[in-house]
Amino acid sequence: MAERLGERGYEVTEADSGEKALELLEQFAFDVVIADLRMPGIDGMRVIETAIQRYPGIVGIVITGDGTMQNAIDAIKRGASDFIAKPFQFDELMHVLQKSNEQRRLKSENAYLRSQLEERYQFGGILGRSRSMRALFQLLETVSRSSSTILITGETGTGKEVVARAIHHSSPRRAARFVALNCSAIPETLLEAELFGHVRGAFTGAVGTRQGRIEQAHKGTLFLDEVGTMSTALQMKLLRALQEREFERVGDNHTIKVDVRFIGATNSDLAKMVAEGTFREDLYYRLNVIPITLPPLRERRDDIPLLVTHFLEKFAPDAPMQVTQAAMRGLMAYSWPGNVRQLENAVERAVALNAGRSEIDLADLPPEVQASPQATTTPFVEFPEAGLDLTAYLTSIERDLIQRSLERTGGNRHKAAELLHIKRTTLVEKLKRFGS
Ligand SMILES: Nc1ncnc2c1ncn2[C@@H]1O[C@H](COP(=O)(O)OP(=O)(O)OP(=O)(O)O)[C@@H](O)[C@H]1O
Ligand SMILES: [Mg+2]
Repeated sequence: MAERLGERGYEVTEADSGEKALELLEQFAFDVVIADLRMPGIDGMRVIETAIQRYPGIVGIVITGDGTMQNAIDAIKRGASDFIAKPFQFDELMHVLQKSNEQRRLKSENAYLRSQLEERYQFGGILGRSRSMRALFQLLETVSRSSSTILITGETGTGKEVVARAIHHSSPRRAARFVALNCSAIPETLLEAELFGHVRGAFTGAVGTRQGRIEQAHKGTLFLDEVGTMSTALQMKLLRALQEREFERVGDNHTIKVDVRFIGATNSDLAKMVAEGTFREDLYYRLNVIPITLPPLRERRDDIPLLVTHFLEKFAPDAPMQVTQAAMRGLMAYSWPGNVRQLENAVERAVALNAGRSEIDLADLPPEVQASPQATTTPFVEFPEAGLDLTAYLTSIERDLIQRSLERTGGNRHKAAELLHIKRTTLVEKLKRFGS
């Protein structure tokens, strides 16, 4: 076994007893331990258990001899990654080894992403590690301190409302209320009363006097969602409230003064609406004091792994799940017209479909994500903060693919070269360069 593993490029250290294995493990953090279960003295299970205690990321594979499944199941319960029953073909071992290694890699990758969910890559619950999002966090930090009016624009699902809430909660106004009003969800006739309140008898059905949202937001923040859908008549009244911080309830002439911070949001192009005459120019400038534009998710794909990890924790809080390479490739390649909301839904769906497995695979994702053309060809690469050595990275991929082609063809270089669409001589050359 040691010899053949060596031929495949593994560096193997042999131990002729459990005692010897533990000694070696004291001195070196091996990636994998393969141990026979039954051994005189310290048995294989003890070796693996001790190894895991010392190196939690280590892969333990046990070899069982007596043909009962119970031993194998026990071993897995006690932390072994997999088992293999005697007698076995070398290929079986290779298969188990590769599978365990992949699991180990995913585990450490996911643990890395989870650690990134901390402080550095979020602002009040908004996650992001892309350049544009980190620039946004800085801007938010500054604007939270002021009371200037903000206009947030961005496609559907890019997080306009989360941003508005985050601003409120990091502002000096956080003790007062954040009041949201979706201007497109309320019929025009009622919107005015909803915003400014009304007195008894102001219109049919106005049985009592009611405070409007703007009053409820006194000392706090008023979030006007879909502000582009407001009629021009109402736009004028809003303009006055914005300019003077004063207004009257519908049906009343008593002026009320408020201290409110306004945040507007829209996914339509207000500047264009101004040009077309459907949105008041003066209101536009009053609203757009501080413009915040949220980029679509497809323009900040660096955020996808982080968001996926976050949503996995949200939807499967008890058993953190992993995402396979193929699934992550699909998620990274898709165009996400519905942005973060659509991604969140896709993860929720995958968790629901996943029924007890600990991994999310490409097949668990919505059909449109599976169908994105790059999903199968472009590898997903975790791009480290400090950058990476492109040549070394590409070489490691090349070496991995060559090794796998040789495994598939049982070491036949001619066939392996065919699989890789290269000449046999090129393959031989590369093998020489890799020193194998
Ligand atoms: N950066 C982010 N980090 C974490 N969650 C996010 C982020 N952006 C959006 N979300 C989540 O995505 C969903 C949609 O966000 P939100 O409702 O703020 O979008 P929106 O821009 O207001 O969309 P719409 O224009 O359709 O109203 C929410 O569940 C929100 O929690
Ligand atoms: Mg919204």
